[in-house]
Amino acid sequence: MDTFEAIKTRRAIKKFDSTHKMSADDVKSLMELTILSPTSYNQQNWRFVTITDQTIKEKISIAARGQAQPKDGSLIIVLCGNTNAWNQDPKRYWKNNTPEKQELVKTNLAKKYTDNPQNRRDEVFRSCGFAAQTIMLAARSMGLDSCPMMGFEYDQLAEIINLPSDHVISMMVVVGKRAEDAAPRGGQLDLNEVVFENSF
Ligand SMILES: Cc1cc2nc3c(=O)[nH]c(=O)nc-3n(C[C@H](O)[C@H](O)[C@H](O)COP(=O)(O)O)c2cc1C
Repeated sequence: MDTFEAIKTRRAIKKFDSTHKMSADDVKSLMELTILSPTSYNQQNWRFVTITDQTIKEKISIAARGQAQPKDGSLIIVLCGNTNAWNQDPKRYWKNNTPEKQELVKTNLAKKYTDNPQNRRDEVFRSCGFAAQTIMLAARSMGLDSCPMMGFEYDQLAEIINLPSDHVISMMVVVGKRAEDAAPRGGQLDLNEVVFENSF
């Protein structure tokens, strides 16, 4: 499937085929594509919890206020961010590059995030947004479907996945085989309302 087709046919699916399973190899392929998503300074501050265990999926459906997608989908990916990634041996983010480049990145990361918790948090959400879209488009190209989800009790989900204290949950994406098409699109705004040439 080409990229335009994947973009056009991706929809937030509400009804998944609960009998469909993804193999460990499929999950691995999807995650290998996902970690090619861009992050500022290549800090790779996303952390992904992948869940195929049915008991945990059912707990997550309860945390998602009874929504069926987590329990019926084949895979739940909880997209989290490590707000301290910038400061955790950052030279490794440029391990293929020169020591000078590695040192420069370390200095720049420190400038950007030391004493700036808001920026550390914003960075997680930026990174996870790109990763989520990669997941959904890659899934589509694998003949699968997805649903991005934010409708859940944050503290309940954090407990289920044992979220570390310096990590935050950005969203989850359920991946699986659609059992029913999505309803027709809600309707896109006019380009005129959302696109501005050169300035607002
Ligand atoms: C951050 C975010 C959170 C969402 N949370 C939910 C959710 O909890 N449950 C759900 O069914 N859909 C959820 N959606 C799906 C949106 O309702 C859907 O993307 C939107 O209506 C546009 O439809 P489309 O994705 O099929 O084009 C969420 C989407 C986003 C981006």
